[in-house]
Parts: sequence; structure tokens; C-alpha cells
Amino acid sequence: MRALITGITGQDGSYLAELLLDQRYEVTGMVRRSSTESFERVNHIKDKISLVQADLLDQLSIINIIEEFRPTEVYNLAAQSFVPTSWNQPVLTGQFDAIGVTRMLEAIKLVDKKIRFYQASSSEMFGKVKEVPQKETTSFHPRSPYGVAKVYGHWITVNYRESYGLHANSGILFNHESPRRGLEFVTRKITDGVARIKLGLSDKLALGNLDAKRDWGFAGDYVRAMWLMLQQDEPGDYVIATGQTHSVEQFVSLAFSHVDLDYKKYVVTDPRFVRPAEVDLLQGDASLAKKNLGWEPRVSFEELVKMMVDADMERLSSSTK
Ligand code: NAP
Ligand code: GDD
Repeated sequence: MRALITGITGQDGSYLAELLLDQRYEVTGMVRRSSTESFERVNHIKDKISLVQADLLDQLSIINIIEEFRPTEVYNLAAQSFVPTSWNQPVLTGQFDAIGVTRMLEAIKLVDKKIRFYQASSSEMFGKVKEVPQKETTSFHPRSPYGVAKVYGHWITVNYRESYGLHANSGILFNHESPRRGLEFVTRKITDGVARIKLGLSDKLALGNLDAKRDWGFAGDYVRAMWLMLQQDEPGDYVIATGQTHSVEQFVSLAFSHVDLDYKKYVVTDPRFVRPAEVDLLQGDASLAKKNLGWEPRVSFEELVKMMVDADMERLSSSTK
């Protein structure tokens, strides 16, 4: 089995590469050209994978990589994934997260229609939610250029499945986190902030809307669902979530209390981190994934928060020694 992962240098790409290597896949990662290489998340496995340059903006580069490596499975994880950036760079976000998906699907259609395809869709598509909890049949109402672009990526995946018979799958994943999460996302910003305050490196943490609620799971659990989708006889669309929702404030409170601190002494709100349109509440229903894929999350919310705080404490303690 040969897998091509776009976005291999990201949080999910690194966990997925580990999982596929464990299953004895040959793993190729698509990376974009940069003047400085930052392959931090895959450094520990770089001898076991091949990294090849191509870009979601460049159709020919995608065709070439698929033609050369002839993957049996393609996981399209690459994206501009930070919601606030999508208001500042809406056109680029659309190019990566919407049209980029079409470029991937076109390349597969051209080279080999038997290649199985995974699209990284998002619970952000539900936006101003129409029902609680959200499932595969819940209609979309995205609230950011990112969410809008992901809706396009979702439907073009469904469209190529229905029009050309591709084994094209859309995983509608709710927020998933880990010690490898980018520092700008709220969970990692909090756990990094908690560790800095505990170690005396900082004395406050500025955040935006503390009332927003998310269904947070562990990234290592969620990449297993991606792989399971591509092992089914029939392609499909699946919500992947824990089914539980917590507010940003609850995450903050638990993270600070894990190191015996009272968050009220350190957290300040800053309007710079408030969004022009908010997604107030996400809570997913993953019963279809449980029924068809046998997928269930293994790491609880409490375990996730502690894992992330502990990892940031360890990283920052060793860097200050
Ligand atoms: P991430 O850590 O931000 O990683 C994004 C990856 O995309 C990076 O490897 C990045 O490469 C790559 N990339 C960006 N633009 C590219 C381009 N033009 N050409 C090639 N590669 C490009 O994101 P993540 O959290 O792992 O998420 C993976 C995917 O799942 C994304 O599509 C995201 O939108 C989606 N998703 C994430 C979540 C979540 O909670 N994490 C939930 C639902 C859906 P560089 O290293 O070069 O920047
Ligand atoms: N980033 C950030 N920074 N978010 C904050 C802050 C802050 O200082 N303060 C409050 N928040 C709130 C945001 O307003 C949002 O409601 C919530 O925390 C989560 O924000 P993020 O962690 O940035 O994630 P997201 O939910 O916008 O998007 C993530 O999840 C999506 C799936 O639902 C990303 O990973 C997307 O790529 C993914 O599709």
C-alpha cells in the first residue's frame, strides 16, 4: 500500500504518517517549497518517509507527484487551516481549501480513478448550527471564508464520487488537538500560556471569546478515522467527534487548575482575538462512524487538556534549563 499525504508537515499529517508507517505503508508527503525547511513535526520519522515538493496552487505539480509515486490512497490534509487568517486572506484561502481540492481530484481522475481519496472537511461548515448535535445530514451555514471554502471542498468531493465513481471520502472532523497543535489555535495557546505562567516566563494570557463551545478530541484518534474511511468497500461522508462540548473558559479553567493556578488571576480578554462572525457551539454526533467504521475516540477531554499542559511544561522547562 502506498499513501500520499498532502499537509504532512501539519499536526494531522504527522500523526497520520505514523499510523500508516505502523501499517507498513510506503508514505510520500507533499511539501511546498520554502526558503527554510520546517519539518519539525515529522523530523522523528523523516528517514522512513519521502518528502516531495508540489503545491496545491499548481495543477501540474500535483499530477506529476501522483503519476510518479502512484499512491493507492491520497489524504488531502493540506490547507490554510486558521480561521482568522481566512478573513485577511479570503482569496488565497479559497485557492488552497476549495480549488486546491478540485486540483487533487482532477489529478486522480486523470492518472488513476482507482486511487482512494480522503478530503479533510470540517465542522466549521456547520457554522451557525441548524441542530444540536450536528450529523452528516445537518445543513451547512459557514461563518468564515475558511468555512465557505471547506463547504466547496466537501461538495466537490461528493460530486467527483457521484460523477466519476471515485472512492472519494469526506471526513467532517470536529476540532482535534494535541501537543503538536499550532500555537495560534486556542487550546495550544492556552496550554503554552499556562506553562509560561507557571514557569515565571509570563504573567498573563490574552484571549478572545471565552463562551464559544467546541467538541474537542485528540488528533491521534481522529487520523485513525481517516484511514478507516479509505478501507471501506463504499466511500462516504462521516462526522468524527466526541459528542461532548466544552466552552473555551472550561478548557482554560482545567488547564490552569492542572498546575494549581487560578485562571481568573491571569486571563484577560482582548478584542483583537474576537472574530467578525463566531461559531458559537459545535457538538458532533459520530454514531454513523461508530456503526460503519467501528470508530470511537479513546482520549477524554480531561486527558487531552492534561496531556497538552504536561507537554508544554516539559518543553519549556527543558528549554529554560
Ligand atoms: P495544520 O497543522 O495547519 O497543517 C496544514 C498543512 O497544510 C501544513 O502541512 C501546511 O504546510 C500545508 N499546506 C498549506 N498550504 C499548502 C499548499 N499551498 N501546498 C501544500 N501544502 C500546504 O492543519 P491540521 O490541524 O493538521 O489540519 C489538517 C487538515 O484538516 C486541514 O485541511 C484542516 O483545515 C482540516 N481540519 C482540521 C481540524 C482540526 O481541528 N485540526 C478539524 C477539521 C478539519 P506548511 O508546513 O508548509 O505550512
Ligand atoms: N485562536 C484563538 N485565539 N481562538 C480563540 C481565542 C484566541 O485567543 N480566544 C477565544 N477563541 C475562540 C475562537 O473564537 C473560537 O470560537 C474557538 O476559540 C476555537 O478557535 P480555534 O482554536 O482557532 O479553532 P477553530 O474552531 O476556529 O478552528 C479549528 O477547528 C476547525 C474544526 O471545527 C481549526 O483547526 C480549523 O482548521 C478546523 O476546521
